[in-house]
Amino acid sequence: MADHSPIHVGLLFSKTGDISTIETSQLMGTLLAIDEVNEAGGIDGREIIPIHYDPQSSPGLYRVLAERLVLEDKINVIFGCYMSSTRKAVIPIIEKWNRLLFYPTLYEGFECSSNIVYTGAAPNQNSVQLAEFMTASYGVRVYLVGSDYIYPYESNRIMTDLVLQRRGGEKVGERYVPLNAAEDDFKSIIADIRDKQPDFIFSTVVGNSTKCLYQAYADAGLNPRTMPIASLTTLEAEIAQMGADVGAGHVSAAPYFQSIATPRNLESLEKFKRRFGSDVIPNAGWEAAYFQVHLFANAMRLSGSDAIDALMPNLLGSEFDAPQGRVRIDPSNHHTCLYPRIGIANGSGQFTVVRQAIRAVHPDPYLITHSLGDWTISLDTPK
Ligand code: ACM
Repeated sequence: MADHSPIHVGLLFSKTGDISTIETSQLMGTLLAIDEVNEAGGIDGREIIPIHYDPQSSPGLYRVLAERLVLEDKINVIFGCYMSSTRKAVIPIIEKWNRLLFYPTLYEGFECSSNIVYTGAAPNQNSVQLAEFMTASYGVRVYLVGSDYIYPYESNRIMTDLVLQRRGGEKVGERYVPLNAAEDDFKSIIADIRDKQPDFIFSTVVGNSTKCLYQAYADAGLNPRTMPIASLTTLEAEIAQMGADVGAGHVSAAPYFQSIATPRNLESLEKFKRRFGSDVIPNAGWEAAYFQVHLFANAMRLSGSDAIDALMPNLLGSEFDAPQGRVRIDPSNHHTCLYPRIGIANGSGQFTVVRQAIRAVHPDPYLITHSLGDWTISLDTPK
């Protein structure tokens, strides 16, 4: 007899704390895809039922709640985590119990757990392109500012290597702020930036404090046309928090922007808005959270089981028509082939895409084979 029992999956996205805005968008992207799968009949008639916990932006709680999902809720598959510190907190649990984490966030690379599918960008799919664009368009003197945890340390190291070694550039400053930084925490940094006059600022500030950096920059009267902030983590959700006028002119790299004008993207955005309203702002984290559920559902249709050993052969190499374009999980490293894009924030809170990949770029999380320079078509001039 056919099995019609529901499939429970775990969701670890924070609705409270320093990264609540971006993770709420990832939670909603996940729920949109779960709705789509269920409305289309589930996975061979089996409904997906999410069990969501709020880890309150605290790495320790991610770990505790991941263990609860595994041991008490008997979950095999977890979708979740934005900050790398939270992914690192969950890894020992999923590796110990041989469970699967789908991780929908850009990160610093240099990791490859066989218990994770990484659907956000690796550094060769965003940092490399951003370094090339910023140094060619604005200059080679960079000032780094980040939140105080692993992703910013590592992402800043990678950006420094790219700018110094590949472009003969210079690092003129590097500063870190707490995750809950307020505008006052950025004032002395902005004063230092004003003194040192870099060609661009690279921000690895994440979460709800992002708006404070950009506001402090705007309050100091600095000009994004000549000295913009470049980032991988300032996307539409953060721009909405700071206000379109504060964000305008700054630069971000991501595989997805809301402004991608394809029927596939417009359809997803329309459906999302109809179902969940306009309070949650779609962005690259939302999109990865959305498409990874479909990759899971398609793989489970083939495997008939959500156990990692059954799922993985059907996940690796699998493809899906995502809002950014057709994505594919690379069998060699569990990361995803994605479409790097560079966007400049415009006056309406969206990003104008000025460069985009000709084709999906293979993930290279250890930055072994990447090269600057041959990945894009230019759509616009930056200034
Ligand atoms: C991040 O911490 N991976 C943004």
